[in-house]
Amino acid sequence: MTLRNVGDLPVLPLPESFALTAAYNDDQFPNKVNLGQGVYRDNNCQPWVLPSVREAEETLHNQQVNHEYLPIAGDSKFLTKARQLLFGPQIASSAENISSLQTVAGTGANHLAALFCARNLCPKNVFISDPTWDNHHLIWEMAAPNVTQRLYPYYDPTTRGLNLDGMLAELESSAEDNDVVILHACAHNPTGIDPTREQWKKIAQVVRRKKLFVVFDCAYQGFASGNADADAWAIREFYSMLFTEELSSSSSSTPAGMFVCQSLSKNFGLYGERIGALHLIIPPWTSPEGAKAHLVQLVRAEISCPSLFGARIVHTVLDDAELCTKWQEDVRIMALRIKTVRALLKSELEKIGARGDWSHIEQQIGMFSFTGLSIAQVQELRERHHIYMLSNGRMSLSGLNETNVAYVAGAIRDVL
Ligand SMILES: Cc1ncc(COP(=O)(O)O)c(C=O)c1O
Repeated sequence: MTLRNVGDLPVLPLPESFALTAAYNDDQFPNKVNLGQGVYRDNNCQPWVLPSVREAEETLHNQQVNHEYLPIAGDSKFLTKARQLLFGPQIASSAENISSLQTVAGTGANHLAALFCARNLCPKNVFISDPTWDNHHLIWEMAAPNVTQRLYPYYDPTTRGLNLDGMLAELESSAEDNDVVILHACAHNPTGIDPTREQWKKIAQVVRRKKLFVVFDCAYQGFASGNADADAWAIREFYSMLFTEELSSSSSSTPAGMFVCQSLSKNFGLYGERIGALHLIIPPWTSPEGAKAHLVQLVRAEISCPSLFGARIVHTVLDDAELCTKWQEDVRIMALRIKTVRALLKSELEKIGARGDWSHIEQQIGMFSFTGLSIAQVQELRERHHIYMLSNGRMSLSGLNETNVAYVAGAIRDVL
């Protein structure tokens, strides 16, 4: 192998959402609008520290906590609560086939899942939705270079809805035993389109028949409906359909396992604390010890052990019934505000006669709208109107408010 001078390495572009935020920050135009980054903003376009989280911070401050190392797998009290949040108290308390580890937010969970799969499952392919969160591609490229990335159809531009038939047909025809499929648990990024419950069941049936290893990515629990339990429905359904005792007689048609990557960044507003968890579910008649030990070893090599503060906050909130109720209300407030600006943008576009049908903006769910604007239109929005959004037409709705929605709608009409 030829030794390379690191000085010769090419400069790589920043990921688009980070580059957009940097460009937005440099922009001096007074009415600029940032619809790029997937972070919640309040009605004044400011970061919002959830009141429940503020209260937990104060509680922790008064407790004069120490700063010791955590175990490699993370804070067990946090993990118990995080598991309950995802799977519901019933599954979480009785399921011995779920192993959980604390991770560096949702990204760290995705990365750990990819590393583990590449080393221990050795799938031929990983199936990724078309389109998806751009980091899925990079994570799998870095952590699992020997696994081929394949796209499954997800978004249908003609209906602006889910291409379920295309998705199922691709998995049926191309996936092999033990291949991985990444599924967004709710509030799909970037399309804002989730399968219905009936559609999820059909996906689970194909997963079972083809013995696919699902990696659920759950980054927006609570943002789809405003209710964390409702948004975890698909994960709980897959658990029941694929990994419960009653299925043991048909174990030959059960996938080897399933991962759930849980981010607490968005639903607790803890973006910079990097708090998340990875849950491995295996058939109940197999032993979790070996797999857990391998995950622990990967964590040890990467970060030795995870960080404390985010875990403490999430645990403090979820462990206190009153604070937990306040947090549920905080989540509802965030989801509702985004829903409200969806309706506002749609009605504003209609009011000013912007060409086309804008009903999809209101029908889509979660933090984003897949607007249908072209790359050229997005570029024009940025250059002429100082409105920043991803070039695939994804708009982060939390950057909209009552004050700027008319400006944004007018700009969209101008670039059509
Ligand atoms: C689909 C999806 N997965 C995972 C993440 C990772 O979130 P974080 O690492 O900030 O918890 C994001 C964040 O934008 C996302 O959209």
